[in-house]
Amino acid sequence: MKVAVVGATGLVGTVMLKVLEERNFPLTELIPVASEKSVGKEITFKGKKFPIVSMDTAIGMRPDIALFSAGGNTSLEHAPRFKEAGTTVIDNSSAWRMDPTVKLIVPEVNAHELSIDNKIIANPNCSTIQMVVVLKPLHDKYKIKRVVVSTYQSVTGTGVKAVEQLMNERKGIDGPKAYPYEIDLNVLPHIDVFMENGYTKEEMKMVKETNKIMSDDSIKVTATTVRIPVMGGHSESVNIEFENDFDLAEVRSILEKSPGIIVVDDVANLKYPMPKDAHEKDEVFVGRIRRDESAPKALNLWIVADNLRKGAATNAVQIAEYLIQKELV
Ligand SMILES: NC(=O)c1ccc[n+]([C@@H]2O[C@H](COP(=O)([O-])OP(=O)(O)OC[C@H]3O[C@@H](n4cnc5c(N)ncnc54)[C@H](OP(=O)(O)O)[C@@H]3O)[C@@H](O)[C@H]2O)c1
Repeated sequence: MKVAVVGATGLVGTVMLKVLEERNFPLTELIPVASEKSVGKEITFKGKKFPIVSMDTAIGMRPDIALFSAGGNTSLEHAPRFKEAGTTVIDNSSAWRMDPTVKLIVPEVNAHELSIDNKIIANPNCSTIQMVVVLKPLHDKYKIKRVVVSTYQSVTGTGVKAVEQLMNERKGIDGPKAYPYEIDLNVLPHIDVFMENGYTKEEMKMVKETNKIMSDDSIKVTATTVRIPVMGGHSESVNIEFENDFDLAEVRSILEKSPGIIVVDDVANLKYPMPKDAHEKDEVFVGRIRRDESAPKALNLWIVADNLRKGAATNAVQIAEYLIQKELV
């Protein structure tokens, strides 16, 4: 199993390498790829050094799987070239997500949709992934009518430059900016670009991707996505209105039994999910589970996950593991 990691020097790529190592992914050859400026530099994997190679060199090596996290334009240009060489691409950018011929996969929700013909597979947006892992088992039981979500997103979701901006601001250094305003001691109700309808692209991703992953356009979703000066993961306040009534203890029990979810909900002992605790974990954490007392059949939840792990690298590696397990690659 030859595996290329495209964007190996980036925030997601670095975590991708860590996750592959930790999960003892059955690879026989690792091919790290980054931009031309990084070619020849080395990364370390399982204690061994590997040189970064160019895109063309990697394609020539005909990897079985390529895990892409190098931006949308890089994916649009190069994923089809890997596909042409017989490689299955799992892409972290937004480039292919809404392409009707491309599957958008969260293994806990819809891995069963994958077949041997899917040679470019899209990894959803980080905020969407952690939300649908929780929505799916509740939708199966009570049928979701509407979701209102507000996010509190980590700067690691923007990439290396954003982490540098936050760190520089803390040290009083005037360096390169990833955001239009200061991020330290601030909150930006603005993630990705603004669209004509007044929403940001990130907000509309949460709407459209949720419908696609859940294969159900009847679920109404509205989102407000917000950047905060935090590093460990994204948090979400989620209000869910169901078709059918629910029992709170049963909701908790369903979530506790669902794959990939850890319930942390003991307010008497001040236990609830936080980015500091989710950092470097692969699971999605849920707490503050309570009835919405302002509406019938409605529930409030607080969902936290490490956006670089379940929101990106872990989800992509889980897709690759599924492909191998089902002999689809
Ligand atoms: N951060 C998240 O939470 C998150 C979550 C889900 C998805 N994503 C997506 O994953 C992608 C990467 O995000 P990131 O946060 O890791 O960004 P990042 O830290 O800025 O890293 C970008 C990576 O892409 C490489 N790259 C850039 N242009 C390239 C090119 N033309 N050819 C080959 N490699 C190139 C860079 O290589 P150099 O070091 O050589 O420049 C670097 O390895 C983006 O599409 C992002 O939307 C990010």
